[in-house]
Amino acid sequence: MRHLIDIRDFSPAELDRLLDLADAIMADPAAYRDACRYKKLATLFFEPSTRTRLSFEAAMYELGGEVLGFSEANSSSAAKGETVGDTVRVVSCYADIIAMRHPVEGAPMAASMVTGVPIINAGDGGHCHPTQTLTDLMTIRREKGSLNNFTIGLCGDLKYGRTVHSLIAALSRCTGVKFVLISPDELAIPDYVKTDILDAQGLRYSETADLEAAMPELDVLYMTRIQRERFSDPAEYERLKDSYILTPEKLRTAKADLSILHPLPRVNEIAVEVDDDPRAKYFTQALCGKYVRMALILTLLGMAERGETSAPIPEVRAAGLRCRNPRCITAAEGQLKPRFKRAEGDALRCVYCEAKV
Ligand code: NCD
Repeated sequence: MRHLIDIRDFSPAELDRLLDLADAIMADPAAYRDACRYKKLATLFFEPSTRTRLSFEAAMYELGGEVLGFSEANSSSAAKGETVGDTVRVVSCYADIIAMRHPVEGAPMAASMVTGVPIINAGDGGHCHPTQTLTDLMTIRREKGSLNNFTIGLCGDLKYGRTVHSLIAALSRCTGVKFVLISPDELAIPDYVKTDILDAQGLRYSETADLEAAMPELDVLYMTRIQRERFSDPAEYERLKDSYILTPEKLRTAKADLSILHPLPRVNEIAVEVDDDPRAKYFTQALCGKYVRMALILTLLGMAERGETSAPIPEVRAAGLRCRNPRCITAAEGQLKPRFKRAEGDALRCVYCEAKV
């Protein structure tokens, strides 16, 4: 079975084909009206969402399919203590494909290990969010003409912003992309993204806290929300919440063909006056999200029909070892077997949440 848990589950060639399909669907949606007739998508959202869930549901309806599911954990048996694995095993008796969002890191990975239908990670805690990345890639490709040779500034909460982690992983496989990581020290990019992706591949990147200083060199500016729900200390959130507010003033030194992206929802990190700037592309980006999810559903169902399987994760035997990340699914569900893989510099990482152990 093929799933989309991490953006790197798809090869660069597969991603190109998927983005081509998304463009084709956007150009002629009527041609795909019956493509998923009699197929069902389950949306299991254990965490709030507007865009992601509704764009998945709109995507399936526009393909002629049906949708079932829930939009909060309270309305599922998770409230009774059911494990993610059991919920998903049951739902896979009723649906052909499952999109799942969960506050616990690695939950979709755990789900993919026990089900016979494709699982799509629609966001797992502060870890990753591959379908937002598909949306971002589609938008950048349409705006810039390609996914190569540009400078992208990623600004805001790079620590907990899962969309940033997946986007860097995807762009690290393109050529000539330079990353400018713009955040306060407290919200810097997690170590696994830095060492295992940026450093390991010798990519060009710089780190700064100064958005205005970085502005002139950027081709793409990816703004993010400070992720209030992931802070354990509310005072820390209050201190950092207004770290960056993009205004027309701050865009004065920006390139004329800059593309401003944001996964949304926005809180106050982009002033509404910026919306009228032709460089603001975040609402177009949200529209791309529906078409790219249509392409993803079609692609995964096609792979399932052909019986495609993903390459096994090369695991390391580590008897007695446990992941120490308190936000990992193995912490939430003690009976889940801990699993580890080897990372850069011989470190071991948890297969579910990628924390170093
Ligand atoms: C993002 C998410 O859920 O991580 N939203 C989305 O899916 N478009 C970004 C965010 O919540 O800040």
